[in-house]
Amino acid sequence: RTFKRQMMCRRDIDSFSVPFLSIYESLIPPEEEKLKQNQLLGLLEKLVCKEWPMARLYLYGSCASSFGVSKSDIDVCLAIQDADVDKSKIIMKLADILQSDNLQNVQALTRARVPIVKLMDPVTGISCDICINNLLAVVNTKLLRDYANIDPRLRQLAFIIKHWAKSRGVNETYHGTLSSYAYVLMCVHFLQQQRPAILPCLQGMNPTYSVRVDNVDCAFFDQVEKLGHFGRHNKDTIAHLVWGFFFYWAYCHDYANSVISVRTGSTISKRDKDWTRRIGNDRHLICIEDPFETSHDLGRVVDKRSIKVLREEFERAADIMQYDPNPCIKLFEPY
Ligand code: CTP
Ligand code: MG
Repeated sequence: RTFKRQMMCRRDIDSFSVPFLSIYESLIPPEEEKLKQNQLLGLLEKLVCKEWPMARLYLYGSCASSFGVSKSDIDVCLAIQDADVDKSKIIMKLADILQSDNLQNVQALTRARVPIVKLMDPVTGISCDICINNLLAVVNTKLLRDYANIDPRLRQLAFIIKHWAKSRGVNETYHGTLSSYAYVLMCVHFLQQQRPAILPCLQGMNPTYSVRVDNVDCAFFDQVEKLGHFGRHNKDTIAHLVWGFFFYWAYCHDYANSVISVRTGSTISKRDKDWTRRIGNDRHLICIEDPFETSHDLGRVVDKRSIKVLREEFERAADIMQYDPNPCIKLFEPY
């Protein structure tokens, strides 16, 4: 962090805000996509309720948190109250029901870490993953959506970072890089760290929303419209923030000792979490605490090889933001 203060940003950085914002705008899904998503959700609700009248469907993930770019798949959670549900059985049954109703490419993935049914709706052209009782994901989606409603720069920054990560091939958890969810948490953390802060720490405030899910108390301040424009004292432009984000991850973050934590609005020490050594497959080479499942490190997928790839990509991006005459093009060049 001290390094950042010493590091002088290029003087023309703000001139890149206009092109960055047009990239952001080109990624926003058109209104009709939202309508189609709701149309598909309605169809699924109808089919599911025939079999399980008490069940409910929730949209989660980027299409519900407002961090979804155009043409994203949608993530749906089927909530079934029954205490001891056998998820695999429900997944199989659900796949059967959907298969017989004209939906295409229906696949039951019962052995995945999170079992899901995948499908494609030929009417809307939308693909969809349905999981069972993953209500923590529904709650963390709400937290991200509430953060997005505090300052428009979060959504802008997250779209640009996600777009960069996809272009550079570092948004693939099965290859040891980070999930979109992890990148959005990194953006929230970064904006909480700015001085003056651009985002508050909603979990550190008096809770106005509180639910208990899977033995985790999820509580935070969610009346964000009452915060006024929280970040107004910080006038940093989007180009400046993109520069700052990459500098932070290239040169300021203490990978050896620190965990980023949106829950506390700060960093915490790896030692306090006992994340200092490899346990099983969890290596903790970059540590991102889940806001609710606090024993969960979203960086655990990163290994010795991919941490190098990631850090080199952060450095490449930081150098482009600092020196390249055309950062808005160079940043997103395919690898
Ligand atoms: N999620 C989670 N824990 C993870 C990964 C994901 O709880 N380790 C949940 C989050 O609620 C997240 C959702 O699953 O919003 C979808 O995650 P992901 O596919 O990473 O991101 P999206 O935001 O849907 O991004 P994309 O647009 O790339 O699909
Ligand atoms: Mg998704």
